[in-house]
Amino acid sequence: MAGEQGESSRREPGNELEQEPKAVGPGPTVVPVPFVHPSEAEFARILDFYGVRWEYEPRSFALQKQGDRVLEMFTPDFYLPDLGLYIELTTLRQSLVTEKNGKLRRLRELHPEINIKLLYRKDIHRLLARYGFGPLVQAGAPGLQKVLLSGDQIQKRVFELGSKISEDYPGQRPVLVGVLRGVICFMADLMRHISLPVSVDFMSISYYGHQSAVRITKDLDLDLAGRHVLMVEDIVDTGMTLNYLLQYLSSKGPASLEVCALLDKRARRIADTSIKYVGFEVPDEFLVGYGLDYMEEYRNLPFIGILRPKS
Ligand code: PRP
Repeated sequence: MAGEQGESSRREPGNELEQEPKAVGPGPTVVPVPFVHPSEAEFARILDFYGVRWEYEPRSFALQKQGDRVLEMFTPDFYLPDLGLYIELTTLRQSLVTEKNGKLRRLRELHPEINIKLLYRKDIHRLLARYGFGPLVQAGAPGLQKVLLSGDQIQKRVFELGSKISEDYPGQRPVLVGVLRGVICFMADLMRHISLPVSVDFMSISYYGHQSAVRITKDLDLDLAGRHVLMVEDIVDTGMTLNYLLQYLSSKGPASLEVCALLDKRARRIADTSIKYVGFEVPDEFLVGYGLDYMEEYRNLPFIGILRPKS
């Protein structure tokens, strides 16, 4: 945006008016907002869904002044602090679009540092997708209540976990063992952030007898005897799977055995097992995305979302 704007010498400090935002979201502090237009309410709902913080009309800019008198003001609809972006929504009425474009042009001339976009309704999802929020929501994820962990948040944390693991196994060649299928995304990202020579193996299990017993349907291919083994899990819920697999892996005689779980749903724990590396502690909600499924769908979402309970 800066490239489109006029020279900074045209800036006039002090011609903007700070004010308390009329509302902020998402979060429990959100108060009902008298949105001027229904599309603003819809935009706020979409931002809440994606977990993007917003402020409604937090700041007004004077576009024209005569002495101390302000002749023309402009108040963008939203400010998104995480993206450093002001948003002005618009409808398809051409006369309004032309007028708003004129205001935006003047604002950019006066404030080249301001990042502002004029958005049509259809552009909202496209914009959020460009800023790293899931592009599949509209098309392929019905029933999602909200994004719990964005793709960016996950990638940042996976990078931190990979770096820590790399530090903790100096000079070693650990074996990463994953349980199919939920772990696929996490394993693929984690292994690429570990700066050590690693081996990777997978197991597959199924439950029978009302989930009380576990059967191995795909066993290990590698010999774990004397190896430093890191068991990688997408989520630890009751802990029953982990408990079973740790006993099984211990029986293979590894030099060490630790656990790295992206998500820890501690509230549901039955079998308590120590997890050395935890990505995020998560609430007791039904989670999908980034490998986690509901009836074998949603695994390909690039974020982790909360699935709305069936009513
Ligand atoms: C998930 C997850 C863990 C297990 C954790 O697998 O991948 O392996 O549940 O649950 P627990 O702590 O209650 O034992 P799931 O059975 O959903 O299969 P999937 O990996 O194929 O999705």
